[in-house]
Amino acid sequence: MEKRTAAVSVRNVTKRFGPVLANDKVCLDVYRGEILALLGENGSGKTTLMNMLSGIYFPDEGEIFINGKPVSITSPKESFRLGIGMIHQHFKLVDVFTAAENIVLGLEEKLDMKTAIKKIQKICDDYGFDVDPKQKIYNMSVSQKQTIEIIKVLYRGADILILDEPTAVLTPQETDKLFAILSNMRNAGKAIIIITHKMHEVQAISDRVAVLRKGQYIGEVKTATTTAQELTDMMVGHSVSLNIERSEPVNPRPRIEVKNLTVKDEEGTVKLDNISFTANTGEILGIAGIAGSGQKELLEAIAGLQVVEPGSSIAYIEDDGTRDELIGKDPLAIQDMGVSLSFVPEDRLGMGLVGNMDLSDNMMLRTFRRGKSFFTDRKRPRKIAEDVVKDLEVSTPSLNTPVRRLSGGNVQKVLVGREITSAPKVLLTAYAVRGLDINSSYTIYNLINDQKKQGVAVVYVGEDLDVLIELCDWILVLCGGKVSGIISGRGADKQEIGLMMTRVGGLAPEQAMDVLRNQQIQEGGQDHE
Ligand SMILES: Nc1ncnc2c1ncn2[C@@H]1O[C@H](COP(=O)(O)OP(=O)(O)O)[C@@H](O)[C@H]1O
Ligand SMILES: [Mg+2]
Repeated sequence: MEKRTAAVSVRNVTKRFGPVLANDKVCLDVYRGEILALLGENGSGKTTLMNMLSGIYFPDEGEIFINGKPVSITSPKESFRLGIGMIHQHFKLVDVFTAAENIVLGLEEKLDMKTAIKKIQKICDDYGFDVDPKQKIYNMSVSQKQTIEIIKVLYRGADILILDEPTAVLTPQETDKLFAILSNMRNAGKAIIIITHKMHEVQAISDRVAVLRKGQYIGEVKTATTTAQELTDMMVGHSVSLNIERSEPVNPRPRIEVKNLTVKDEEGTVKLDNISFTANTGEILGIAGIAGSGQKELLEAIAGLQVVEPGSSIAYIEDDGTRDELIGKDPLAIQDMGVSLSFVPEDRLGMGLVGNMDLSDNMMLRTFRRGKSFFTDRKRPRKIAEDVVKDLEVSTPSLNTPVRRLSGGNVQKVLVGREITSAPKVLLTAYAVRGLDINSSYTIYNLINDQKKQGVAVVYVGEDLDVLIELCDWILVLCGGKVSGIISGRGADKQEIGLMMTRVGGLAPEQAMDVLRNQQIQEGGQDHE
């Protein structure tokens, strides 16, 4: 039988950044008419490898073949010339231009707009894109912007497509749409590489999976004959339990009662619109929604860090039933009542830790703020620091290492670990596992579950719907600052939650789209890990 020539063949490619070995003798083959998933934890070298195909980096060692011929990809232009098109995690579109203008931007051949739009229309018809070439970028959803990026590389004749974590910014419905288009492209004979760290996506879309771990090529398997467990074990290097336990709540009682909560930003834009819900002791209430739907404002309002509109109420209900109104209280007073907030921002050093202080001192900062004496409490923070380092496998030379010398992931483990293990009455946590490896993520789910079992009322804002469905007792879905529904986590349906994420209570789809667009404009686009 004739052996097929790979569209792309990477042989023993090595790339270093100073002391970091980002790719260590990596090999990879991709064929026409197939979708290859490139799977690996954060920092395993996926983006670096693909950036060498798209001409952004040049390998230190090794060879790359395109259609069997050795090539030297010295620039993005050269990469384009070889038919490679990469869709990056961060879009590079000009907001004030139309879709069509962005698509032809930077091309040397001068086509009149009419001809260009015709060509774009043809691409849309061929693969099933649904775009208006004359629409300006600034009133497009994130998913529409991504579509434009894909059309842009197809327009340039790409037949090898690389997508770097394309679904991170999409709802389940948008992901399905993207996957349908990717299938069409595969059937049309394109070679496609999709980077992801989500197991169920690998299974939904790919034909083969290649796994990287710590810069090394671990192996490849056929999607049809592998399992999520096998892939995870390859990714992590040892067996990881993928079970999140969900214990039955014991005697849940209302702890936080939010009524008619409305929050506006400085410009007067409504960020939360008349929100009401209850968070119970011994339960986890999950908050689902597209980034920027009001999650941040909601948690901050409870923690006393948001100005709220008149008529809003947030009651803290003591064990004996006494009600305390939190609105108007000082954030430190709220913290002293046992309300703890951790919000992991996209820039992880951004909040809550003091870079020059060491781990124990950062733990102390927390206890100190809760009114204990700086000197008498030296032992406890050290104990918390030790526990956090042990439980979350924080790699640090010692407990006395300044936090700023730790990597982003380790800083985050310290930050989240500090809040979770501070044993509060109410645990408010957002994006706790953002960017963390699988092991640490599951450790964090366990820590959160421990708190639930101790009777803490947990409010968990998350990005991964599969995790929300497994972990939470209740899921509240936010859309455009409104509650579009509260459902039980047990038996919750992902598609249904996805719909609720883009459907403001009772609004027609077009109106909901407008709300979303406005929201995304205010967010200035969303950049995810
Ligand atoms: N431009 C760069 N300079 C220094 N280090 C880098 C750079 N790009 C990536 N790295 C490092 O290389 C490793 C692999 O990163 P990356 O390819 O982005 O991983 P992934 O895409 O799998 O998350 C990481 O340790 C990362 O910190
Ligand atoms: Mg990456």
